[in-house]
Amino acid sequence: MSILSGKNILLGISAGIAAYKTASLVRLFIKAGADVKVVMTPASKEFITPLTLSTLSKNPVHSSFTNEDDDNAVWNSHVDLGLWADLFIVAPATANTLSKMANGVCDNLLLATYLSAKCPVYFAPAMDLDMYKHPTTLQSFETLKSFGNIMIPATSGELASGLVGEGRMAEPEDIVAFIENDILESLPLKNKKVLITAGPTYEAIDPVRFIGNHSSGKMGFEIAKAAANLGAQVVLVSGPTHQKVSHGLIEVVPVTSAEDMYTEVHKHFGSTDVAILSAAVADYRPKEVASQKIKKKDPALTLELEKTKDILASLGAIKKHQYLVGFALETNNELENAKDKLKRKNLNLIVLNSLNDTGAGFKSDTNKVTFIEADDSVTTFQLKSKAEVAKDLLNKITEQIHA
Ligand code: CTP
Repeated sequence: MSILSGKNILLGISAGIAAYKTASLVRLFIKAGADVKVVMTPASKEFITPLTLSTLSKNPVHSSFTNEDDDNAVWNSHVDLGLWADLFIVAPATANTLSKMANGVCDNLLLATYLSAKCPVYFAPAMDLDMYKHPTTLQSFETLKSFGNIMIPATSGELASGLVGEGRMAEPEDIVAFIENDILESLPLKNKKVLITAGPTYEAIDPVRFIGNHSSGKMGFEIAKAAANLGAQVVLVSGPTHQKVSHGLIEVVPVTSAEDMYTEVHKHFGSTDVAILSAAVADYRPKEVASQKIKKKDPALTLELEKTKDILASLGAIKKHQYLVGFALETNNELENAKDKLKRKNLNLIVLNSLNDTGAGFKSDTNKVTFIEADDSVTTFQLKSKAEVAKDLLNKITEQIHA
């Protein structure tokens, strides 16, 4: 999954021959999981049709302030477009459009949207080599950068004029990679390693049977996504689950038993900055694992169980710089029990789920949690989706480790 997944990307196209490449650019943004809308200057429609772009983006494409083909003309709101966008990219950005952007000229929908946009703005210049070097163009670049706009520099190569030099718009793949890197650079958990456990563990009885639990792994996977979306390098050690995630910053380490989870977690803990243990680890396992399937010859079967290693407590005992988070699922004396667990296991924060709350728990998509911190501060939340709970948790952790 790309960092652009779920982002609203507004693409502004101005009238340069490189506009033909924006079909690929839209496709790449869509492939990265973004929602894309396109706004064009009227002249750019000579280079690529709005139909191509609306088909690829699955959204209407606008180039004027009203829907000109419609008798009951509808206003295309530049303000709404600007507010909708999480990021605005002008590509290709011609010398003319860049100069207008730099000087507050507002004579088309793209420029009005630029003035209304509150989100980060990127621009990918495309023009002939002498235009690219002209002092007035260089001045536009500098002015736009001084506004906080981000330039995706043109590259060298053969230009539409037949001349060879600087001025070619960056390739669509490079534009996407540039924006992804730029976003990652500015994220609060960049260069932090977050270790997460998720799901149940299975403790073997014999080659075909095990002791397990109903944990779906949803909470842990949402936490992994939330951490990666803040730029963290995530190691997700997960017991058996149907959850799936594909994200460049998440490494999934599949495990089966509590012992496997313990081993994998300890391999990574030394280099970890934050560890969040949300797995529902089996507390006991069969003392003996039968090497062959147990036959049902006896009227009753007794299994002797022994304790598994408490992974969370073992990390609490050795932690140095790490911020350590555990979960507690309680049915009675919830706050007291959770506070006691936090102290016993030497945690920085514990997430309390109460089984008394409807909608909270193993298989549901929602959770109702309370955060308790080592200084005894308590924050309670309403019932929320597990994705929202994960975001709340990562925001709290980010705030604490940067405090
Ligand atoms: N945990 C763990 N390893 C275990 C058991 C639990 O890492 N073998 C972690 C869970 O991932 C979770 C927290 O510990 O973060 C939950 O602890 P829990 O099992 O509820 O606490 P206990 O201290 O074992 O207390 P009790 O079962 O008596 O409530």
